Amino acid sequence: MRGIVYTGGDAVVTDKLEIADPGPKEVKVKIVAAGVCHSDLSVLNGTIPWKEPSVLGHEGAGIVEAVGSAVSSVKPGDHVVVATLASCGMCRACNTGHPTLCIKTLGNVSTPFTYDGEPASNFAAASVFAEYTIISEVQAVKISKDVPFTSASLIGCGVLTGIGSVLNRASVNPGETAAVFGVGGIGLNVIQALRVQAASRIIAVDTMAQKEELARQFGATHFVDASKADAVQEIRKIVPHNPSSMAGALGPGGVTWSFECVGHPAVLRSAVDCLDWGGNAIAIGVPPRGAEVSIDINNLAYVDRGLLGCRYGSSRPHHDIPLMVEMYLDGKIMLDELVTETRPLEGFREIIEDMEAGKLARGVLTL
Ligand SMILES: NC(=O)c1ccc[n+]([C@@H]2O[C@H](COP(=O)([O-])OP(=O)(O)OC[C@H]3O[C@@H](n4cnc5c(N)ncnc54)[C@H](O)[C@@H]3O)[C@@H](O)[C@H]2O)c1
Ligand SMILES: [Zn+2]
Ligand SMILES: [Zn+2]
Repeated sequence: MRGIVYTGGDAVVTDKLEIADPGPKEVKVKIVAAGVCHSDLSVLNGTIPWKEPSVLGHEGAGIVEAVGSAVSSVKPGDHVVVATLASCGMCRACNTGHPTLCIKTLGNVSTPFTYDGEPASNFAAASVFAEYTIISEVQAVKISKDVPFTSASLIGCGVLTGIGSVLNRASVNPGETAAVFGVGGIGLNVIQALRVQAASRIIAVDTMAQKEELARQFGATHFVDASKADAVQEIRKIVPHNPSSMAGALGPGGVTWSFECVGHPAVLRSAVDCLDWGGNAIAIGVPPRGAEVSIDINNLAYVDRGLLGCRYGSSRPHHDIPLMVEMYLDGKIMLDELVTETRPLEGFREIIEDMEAGKLARGVLTL
């Protein structure tokens, strides 16, 4: 079987993979398309430490190939998005609608593959950069056959993470203002969800000027090139102090919501500094383990500002994935437009190069 294997510091495209049969509560999926998320790159560059050898990829969609004896919710031939949360369904977090807080969803590495005869583990409980993968039944979310696989695959991480952060973690009221740091696969989905929620100012911030067109296409009302200007000052100019509504701390103005979709401490600091009184910054980007940010506590305590983390869009995959499919089919969100280029597994390097050069919304591997 073909796939992309992380071998420690590098990734190889190989045909030396084998896969086990699904266990009683598992599903074998024939992967058709898989998006390349920055978190896959973060494994390669050591930002996200992971076991090797392992099969990469965690944003995918495909067709159910086989199911275990105890699986009842999907059958061979069904189209599914692969969710990365192998949540237990039994704990308090699962039963109060917070599967992203289920303790079983972190570090539950299994070893359904062999690579060149040696055991190889999965990545993010998904491993979608392979012709087939094995997931728990709870991770197979059936979708309409009307969604092209290339578009559907992105729901598995970028769309769920970005849109979920706005719909589930933030509570954006119509007319409120927002800044989005990082116009990649995650940031573009934050932007389009803010458009759906009728935010009045959606300020996209990136260090690559060429991201402006994409940002505006998805709903940004303003763009700040952070390689040329101080993003916090520019945001405060766009959303100035308005004495009839709210005042900004430490200089007037600022946004009600900010979203850090880069994974850099200095960017998270800017995401806090650009807030108005009462505003909240949401940390989505993943920096190296142990990375810290320094914030004057009075800038939070005196003015009701908040800093929130958000994993996987604080999503409930069996509710949110069908919702996002419906929003797509109703024309409320764009998925096809996120797919900038598609390549076979062998094109993984080119996708990474184009991603780093700022040319992509998302690059998608097709199998
Ligand atoms: N919390 C979660 O559950 C979750 C899920 C998926 C991804 N992530 C993380 O989100 C981050 C973004 O992922 P992505 O796939 O969208 O990445 P991406 O590579 O597609 O996009 C990142 C964007 O950030 C821009 N950027 C880089 N430095 C910047 C700076 N200093 N200021 C402003 N913009 C800057 C880049 O030009 C690029 O446009 C990564 O850290 C990834 O690991 C988190
Ligand atoms: Zn991801
Ligand atoms: Zn649980």
